[in-house]
Amino acid sequence: MLIPLVLSGGSGTRLWPVSRSNLPKQFLALTGQGTLFQQTLVRTRELPDLAPPIVVAADDHRFLAAEQLREAGFEDATIVLEPLARNTAPAIALGALAALEHDPDATLLVLPADHLVGESGPFVEAVRTALPLARAGWLVTFGIRPDRPETGFGYIRRAEPLEGNAFRVGRFVEKPDLATAESYLADGGYDWNSGMFLFRAARYLEELQAHAPAMLAAVREAHAAARRDLDFVRVDADAFARVPEDSIDYAVMEKTRRAAVVPLSCGWSDIGSWSALWLAGERDADGNLREGDTLAFDSHNCLLRSHDRHLIAAVGVDDLVVVSTPDATLVAHRDAAQQVKKIVDELKRSG
Ligand code: GDD
Ligand code: MG
Repeated sequence: MLIPLVLSGGSGTRLWPVSRSNLPKQFLALTGQGTLFQQTLVRTRELPDLAPPIVVAADDHRFLAAEQLREAGFEDATIVLEPLARNTAPAIALGALAALEHDPDATLLVLPADHLVGESGPFVEAVRTALPLARAGWLVTFGIRPDRPETGFGYIRRAEPLEGNAFRVGRFVEKPDLATAESYLADGGYDWNSGMFLFRAARYLEELQAHAPAMLAAVREAHAAARRDLDFVRVDADAFARVPEDSIDYAVMEKTRRAAVVPLSCGWSDIGSWSALWLAGERDADGNLREGDTLAFDSHNCLLRSHDRHLIAAVGVDDLVVVSTPDATLVAHRDAAQQVKKIVDELKRSG
């Protein structure tokens, strides 16, 4: 069986003030139909041999996740709840253990809950291409052609071709520094890691056993002590607190020798910041991306997002991000959108 494993643990601080710790970005309707979380699930519907999804989410978001699953018609999902965040390697291990309870031969399609995929056709096609490789024991990644030296992503070096439209991964480098990212872009042989993965659940656990055995042992304990509560699998807090923190990229993908990459071209975007949303969204003739009640004169390349019936009016400004909510308004230069996180850090510090 093919089981979508949706990772929904991020806090999305750079999309403040719309994304908040009690309502992070994956649960927001930012563009298109439904929330990013729901779009992630709906996109899997055309995949073959599909089983109900597993969602790994923060305990605090259990009702949001359950409600949005129900609304999108996925009431049969398993919801695994983390009492605290330990990054993606343990979260995927929890998902793998849950999947193996359903099917010892389960194949997992790991999907971040907060990405935008413009076209689902090429996405479904890429997963179909990847399935035989995953079933044969490969850890399959999906490679996006890079168009800038982004340092927030993983980079994948394509090595020799495998069956179908796929390549062996020669090298996987997570979040290189700028100079390295620039050299990879110039080289042309590197793809971005999309953050989606396809592999057999048992194979992932084997890799963890090889590269992070303490993590695997701790996750197994936390999962064994989990409590079933309504539709939820609640992971044991004390045991999970002992799990070392790491991402799948560092813990497994940089180290494994059995990784493959399937190229993917589908209008993918990691909606990490307001500038990324502006880039991915449908802009008007002046390059403005506008949501809600907004007016813009002689203004270009702005993102204006108003809440409710609050009017945002812009005159003679370029490259601004203005986002209003009932209790906070953000005004930022589009190029500084990455730094919005600093506001959230400051607000946390000052309580
Ligand atoms: N359940 C759970 N628990 N989910 C988590 C946790 C956790 O502790 N930490 C992160 N996630 C979820 C996030 O919500 C997101 O959907 C996904 O896992 C990836 O985590 P990020 O924290 O957003 O990773 P990243 O963006 O820095 O890097 C990853 O994605 C890039 C593409 O967007 C890596 O895989 C990179 O290699 C990749 O290029
Ligand atoms: Mg991300």
